[in-house]
Amino acid sequence: MRKPIIAGNWKMNMTPSQGAALINEMKPLVADAKCDVVVCVPYVDIPAAAEALKGSNIGLGAQNMNFEPKGAFTGEISADMLKELGVQYVIIGHSERRAYYAETDETVNKKVKAALDAGFTPIVCVGESLEQREAGGWEKLIADQAKAALDGVCPMCVTKVVIAYEPIWAIGTGKTASDEQANEAIAIIRKAVSEVYGEKAEELRIQYGGSMNAKNAQGLMAQEQIDGGLIGGASLKAPDFSVIVAAASATVK
Ligand code: PGA
Repeated sequence: MRKPIIAGNWKMNMTPSQGAALINEMKPLVADAKCDVVVCVPYVDIPAAAEALKGSNIGLGAQNMNFEPKGAFTGEISADMLKELGVQYVIIGHSERRAYYAETDETVNKKVKAALDAGFTPIVCVGESLEQREAGGWEKLIADQAKAALDGVCPMCVTKVVIAYEPIWAIGTGKTASDEQANEAIAIIRKAVSEVYGEKAEELRIQYGGSMNAKNAQGLMAQEQIDGGLIGGASLKAPDFSVIVAAASATVK
């Protein structure tokens, strides 16, 4: 019922020309996808990526945006700027941004609302650190992060949001959450959203992210609650990314 979505998060990798080359390699490999396919590229890669993506089934995303419409915010990028370049998706509140660039639940929430106002699909990241998981209470923590991110979002808009559950201990570490762990955490997030939005939570797409790759994608995608993946390292290799897309496509009836 929920269409899976596989999104690549290139992070700070790929120059514009390298990015265009990667997209050109990727396009034929994912042309038959039955799921949504997205690449979230560095800001300066966006024009070249948009050109390379023309006529393809791959959506274009950014990795961050400011929540203010414009003004004296040196170094920042607004929703309108991204929109004019053809951006459709934006990652919000990635754990690297929360850890290194002081993103909080409050700024994440402002960005989610600004992204929805601009007509984007926000991909909102939540997840616990290893210390938080081991200390206990991680279930409440991810539930609260999801609720805070969606605070004040109208029920009609909430199904447009994509949440990415990314346990911080699994990001870039090669340590994936087990299929069951990922499924359990995503069920917790969906339940938290249902406490506010009722049945709409069943329509919300929730991805897994954290060392998802060509080898483990099939097992993760077979889980009932997992609606796709946010892929870092493996999205930089077209063959690997396309295997993940195929694993998601295979779950579509
Ligand atoms: P990874 O990154 O796949 O390299 O672990 C995922 C992410 O941070 O979005």
